[in-house]
Amino acid sequence: MLIFLSVFVLTQCKRDGGELSTDPPRNGIILGFSQIGAESAWRKFNTRSIIEAAEESGIQLLFDNAEQKQENQIKAMRSFIAYQVDVIAFVPIVATGWDNILQEAKDAGIPVLVTDRKIETANEDLYAGFIGTDSEREGRDAARFLLDKFSHHDRLPIRIIEISGTEGSSPAIGRAAGFRDILSDHPEFEIIHTESGDFLRSKGYEIMTRILNEYEDIDAIYSHNDGMTLGVIDAMYERDMKPGSDIVLVTIDAEQAAIDALRRGEINCVIECNPKMGPAIMELTRKLARGESIPRFQHVDEEVFYETDDLSSLEPRGY
Ligand code: AHR
Repeated sequence: MLIFLSVFVLTQCKRDGGELSTDPPRNGIILGFSQIGAESAWRKFNTRSIIEAAEESGIQLLFDNAEQKQENQIKAMRSFIAYQVDVIAFVPIVATGWDNILQEAKDAGIPVLVTDRKIETANEDLYAGFIGTDSEREGRDAARFLLDKFSHHDRLPIRIIEISGTEGSSPAIGRAAGFRDILSDHPEFEIIHTESGDFLRSKGYEIMTRILNEYEDIDAIYSHNDGMTLGVIDAMYERDMKPGSDIVLVTIDAEQAAIDALRRGEINCVIECNPKMGPAIMELTRKLARGESIPRFQHVDEEVFYETDDLSSLEPRGY
C-alpha cells in the first residue's frame, strides 16, 4: 500500500508541477509491467532482465505476475492506470482481446509498450510500439533446418510432429506460420500431428508419451520451446529411444539445458528466442515518458545453433 501511495503522490507531483512535466528526472519514471507468469526458464530470465534493468536505470517498476490469465493482466493494467504510472508495458499472453484496456490507457494519456509477444488489434494507434521476438522467422529457420537435414533422405514423406505453444499466443501463431511458409513448397514434408503443449515441459512429456503410442515412423519433432522439448526427450528415454538420432529434434529458445542437449547430440537444432529485453524496454520507457515516439516494431537479435557448430566458446546462457 505504502509503495503504491508514494508512487501515486510522486506521479501527481510530476503531472501537476510545470517544470517536471516535460523531462522527468532520473528517478521520476514509473513503469507498470504485466508479465504473464513463470512457465519456463526463458520466462523467468525475461522477468529477471526487466527487474534488473529497471533497477539499473533508476526506473520505478510496478511488476505484476498474471499467472497465465489474461483477465489478471487486464486487472493489473487497470490498476496501473488508476495509479497513473508514466508508461505501461506488458507481455500479451494471447494476441487478441486487448482493445478495451488499451483504449482505457490511451484515454488516461498513458503510452503502452507491447513486449515479447505481438497483439492483433482493430486500431494500431492504441499502443505506442512493440519490442520482442520474430516468431515467423524462428518458424522459417526451423523449417529450413529440416529441409537441409533431410535433403538426402530416401524414405519419403518426412513425417513431422509439431508441439506448439499456448493457443492464440503470437509465438505459437508465428512459429506455426513461418514453418508452413517454407514447407508449403515441399509437399514431401508432412506435418502429421500438431498439438499445443502450452510451453510447458510437463505437457511436452505427456504429448510425446501419447504420440509414441499412436504414431510410427516419426522423422522429426518441431517443438515451439525448449521446455516442451526437454519433456519430449524424457518421454523418448523412457521408451529407450535416442533423441536426436531416432527422431530429429528442432526447438526454440536456446536455454542452457537445450544447448547442453545439443552438445550431447540429443537435439539437432536450437533456435534462439532472446529473453534479454530489459535494457531495451527501459530505454523505450524513458523515451515514452518524455513524450517521444518510438519505432513501431523492434525485433531483438537472435541466433541459430546447429548440431554441426563448434559450441566450445559459447558463453553460458544465463537461463
Ligand atoms: O513468448 C516467448 C515464449 O514464451 C518462449 O518461447 C517460451 O519459452 C515462453 O514461455
